[in-house]
Amino acid sequence: MSETRRPRILAIAQVGEPVLREVTRSLSREELASPEIQSFIDDLVATMHHAQGAGLAANQVFRGIQICALEVGDNPRYPYKPKIPLTILVNPKLRPLSEERFDNYEGCLSVPDMRGVVSRYAELRVQAWDRHGNEIDEEVRGITAGTYQHECDHLEGKLFLDRVEDSSTLTTWKGFSRYREADFRKQVEKVVERWGS
Ligand code: NI
Repeated sequence: MSETRRPRILAIAQVGEPVLREVTRSLSREELASPEIQSFIDDLVATMHHAQGAGLAANQVFRGIQICALEVGDNPRYPYKPKIPLTILVNPKLRPLSEERFDNYEGCLSVPDMRGVVSRYAELRVQAWDRHGNEIDEEVRGITAGTYQHECDHLEGKLFLDRVEDSSTLTTWKGFSRYREADFRKQVEKVVERWGS
């Protein structure tokens, strides 16, 4: 984080904003190193924390560049999610490591008060840069892999809504906690048991 500048809370684009449907462009290491982009990353993280998101992609705050942030701590929006340390992905590429999938109940800061079931790959290879341009090459699994796919979908101009196969799973957050959360928590436990996260 820059010590001389307070991060700004940015406006989050809501479904219907064209920027959410644009494929973002990749960054060079030189651009990434610029004070302007480094400050932007501070703002992206501050905005994700402020909105209590598990992740936030640059085009969700009106910048069509390939950067997303992820972090899961004790998050009241997603109390059952396994933890993810603060991670910045630049120019990420995801590759499934197998055909295995699981059903994830997703929500999104750009889709107000709506959740739905999305089928996600259970294990992925992630290649990207961190915010300093260092290579990231790691494997992620389970619920964490679902979060990575959701954020990287944003950078491709996709929303979780596009991947909901059964529209009867769509629900408000209140409806989720009232009718769906207990069952979904049991599924999450199985996923975590199987994949370790
Ligand atoms: Ni989202």
